[in-house]
Amino acid sequence: MSTYTPQNYDFSDKDAGYAQLARTLEALLHGEHDAVANAANASALIFDALPELNWAGFYFLKDGELVVGPFQGKPACVRIPLGKGVCGTAAAQRTTLVVPDVHAFPGHIACDSASASEIVVPLLDGAELIGVLDLDSPRPARFDEQDRRGLERLAQIYVASLRPAASGHRG
Ligand code: SME
Repeated sequence: MSTYTPQNYDFSDKDAGYAQLARTLEALLHGEHDAVANAANASALIFDALPELNWAGFYFLKDGELVVGPFQGKPACVRIPLGKGVCGTAAAQRTTLVVPDVHAFPGHIACDSASASEIVVPLLDGAELIGVLDLDSPRPARFDEQDRRGLERLAQIYVASLRPAASGHRG
């Protein structure tokens, strides 16, 4: 990994903010392929950079259910069956879910009572589901289409970092 230089992220232009964040994440993960290490740094970066979050982190698919991985925020539920909650539904459908009001989502799993809205991005390595990236916000309708695009790009960068061929020599 390269040395991380803290930056001031400006999400008043969301697409520009996500482009900057994508470049920073690529540099941060460069040369490292460990799934836990890269998820830890990715969640720390996302939580530091994006405004109005109360949780940001990873769930990994293990033996047919989602198991919590590295994250920032309050302690979270450990295991989520596929098809349950926002995370399990996004994983089962292999599609990003943007939930403007978590209380209106059937089966939402409340880990932090402060959460009002949520976005869950599946982590797909080709056709293989390896987990999800989950972000919660205390502000209702915090996430929109620009967040979806930006976070799907960050999820791709994370998945690509796990392949030794994709990011060069281990260093
Ligand atoms: N709210 C999620 C559970 C995970 S926490 O938000 C960290 C869900 O309904 O799947």
